[in-house]
Amino acid sequence: MNYRHGFHAGNHADVIKHIALLALCDALTAKPAACFALDTHAGRGLYWLDADEARRTGEAEGGIACLVSGKDALIDHYLAAVAACRAQHGETAYPGSPWLLAHALRAQDRIAACELQTDEATALRQHFAAEPRLHVHHRDGYAAMKALLPPRDGATRLNRGLVLIDPPYEAQLAEFDTALAAIGDALERWPQGIYALWYPIKQGRALAAFMRRAAALSAKSALVCELLVRPDVSPLRMNGSGMMIWNAPWQLDLRLQPAFAALAQTLGENGQGRSRAEWLKQS
Ligand SMILES: C[S@@+](CC[C@H](N)C(=O)[O-])C[C@H]1O[C@@H](n2cnc3c(N)ncnc32)[C@H](O)[C@@H]1O
Repeated sequence: MNYRHGFHAGNHADVIKHIALLALCDALTAKPAACFALDTHAGRGLYWLDADEARRTGEAEGGIACLVSGKDALIDHYLAAVAACRAQHGETAYPGSPWLLAHALRAQDRIAACELQTDEATALRQHFAAEPRLHVHHRDGYAAMKALLPPRDGATRLNRGLVLIDPPYEAQLAEFDTALAAIGDALERWPQGIYALWYPIKQGRALAAFMRRAAALSAKSALVCELLVRPDVSPLRMNGSGMMIWNAPWQLDLRLQPAFAALAQTLGENGQGRSRAEWLKQS
C-alpha cells in the first residue's frame, strides 16, 4: 500500500468529508444517549500542512486554504473545528477524521479508529494517547466492521452511531465492491447505524452502477452529496468526490445543500464547480 494521507490532507475531498462528518455528529449529539463512531480508515488523525508531503502536492491550497467564514453555517462550524485544532497544535495543523470525532462527540460517547499501516497507526496512537474515549485498532477496517458492530460499551449496547468508511481506493473500482459488501453485511447486524462512505469522482458516468447498488442496500434511506471542482470527464484526475450516507439523519440534505453549493462556488475551478445533496432513496 502506497497511500499516505499526509499528501492530501485538507484538500477539497477532505473538506466535504469533514463538513459532512461534523453535521452527522451534530445530529447524533442532539440527543443525550451515548453514541458510537467507527472510523474504519482513520489515517494518523492529525496533519501539518507545512510538512514536506503536504507542501509537495499543495492540495490544501485548493481546499481548506480557500475557505473564509460567513458564507454558510456548516462551513463556519467546520472552520471553527479547524481553528480549535490549530489552537492546540499550531497554525499549520489540520485535523483528520479521528480528531474531528473526538472534538465533536461527548464524554459519554465512544470512538473506534482503525488503521492498517503500521506507521500511521503508531502516529494515531501517539496523537490520542491521552484520549480515553478513542480506541485505536491496528487492523483492517472492513474486518473491524464485522467485529465491532453492533457496538457495545462494556455490557451496554449502544444503539446510536455512525460508521465512516474512507478508503484510499488504491484498488480503484474494486474498492466499491468491498465497501458495499461490508456496509450491506453491517446493515444486517446494525440496521439503525448511519453509514457514510467517501468516494472519488473521476468520470461521473462510471458511478451509475454504484448508485444503483447503493440504493438497493437494506438501509431506510440513502443521501448522496457531491462536490465537483471541474467537469467529471477526465478518467485520470480526481475531479471531485462524494459522500454516500445511508440512514442519514432527517433533514440532513437541507443542511448540506447550501454548504455544498457554497463550496462549489469557492472551490470550483474557473467557475466550473457543481454540487448536489439529494436523496437516492428516502423512507
Ligand atoms: C483517505 S485516508 C483516511 C483519512 C481519514 N479518514 C481522515 O479523514 O482524516 C485512508 C487511510 O486508510 C488506511 N487504510 C488503507 N486500507 C485500509 C484497511 N483495509 N483498513 C484500515 N485502514 C486502511 C490508509 O493507510 C490511510 O491512512
